[in-house]
Amino acid sequence: MTQDIWTAVDTYITDALVREDPAHDALRAQQEAGLPAINVAPNQGKLLHLLARMIGARRILEVGTLGGYSTIWLAKALPSDGRLITLEFDPRHAAVATASIERAGFGATVEVRVGPAIEALPKLAEEGGPPFDLVFIDADKQSTPQYFEWALKLTHPGSVIIVDNVVRAGRVVDPAGDADVQGIRRFQELLAASRRVTATAVQTVGVKGHDGFALAIVN
Ligand code: SAH
Ligand code: DHB
Ligand code: MG
Repeated sequence: MTQDIWTAVDTYITDALVREDPAHDALRAQQEAGLPAINVAPNQGKLLHLLARMIGARRILEVGTLGGYSTIWLAKALPSDGRLITLEFDPRHAAVATASIERAGFGATVEVRVGPAIEALPKLAEEGGPPFDLVFIDADKQSTPQYFEWALKLTHPGSVIIVDNVVRAGRVVDPAGDADVQGIRRFQELLAASRRVTATAVQTVGVKGHDGFALAIVN
């Protein structure tokens, strides 16, 4: 009953407001390739797009690509000379994403880096490129605290950091939760203790059930 109404309302909102979905084809490709349907919902993808546009993001970092669905929503927010680097552990996911990103016309804007994010992030820092204006963290939940620490190193005052899946159907409040919940809880503690950011978290319901996201701005 509850999930039914959440899904109905998400469908209602998406039908009304997300009729032009630049990443729609990526969802089909992702499904055909048998990848898990754990991408952000369309209205959440559009929220990422809006947030990126609101801050005039020119450089975006994503941790966790899957089939490129959220990637394409974010890439569409960039100016023509913008840049998006997305990190993906699974070569199969990366291949599906790369094809979809090309098809969506963002082949020149987006770079998919294959491998464990925990190795790619220090490499990005070593490369010494310009900082990122927006970081979207959405990979393995146990490592969220480390990804957040790297996001702080790779951003500038005014940058926005968004972290997906910080509620996990309410399991976040269980101190004895599984490894994912422990990761999210350690991340929340970091967020609460960090003077580098001003942050909040919001729980959400929708087609993906009960979850939520954290939103931070770098001070
Ligand atoms: N952001 C995507 C969904 C990402 S799902 C979207 O909304 O469309 C999480 C992804 O993180 C999966 O593709 C998974 O393979 C990847 N992942 C898991 N562990 C990882 C790691 N250690 N490093 C990089 N990516 C990882
Ligand atoms: C899972 C991962 C996600 O990024 C998400 O948004 C939902 C679920 C998962 O691993 O189950
Ligand atoms: Mg997610």
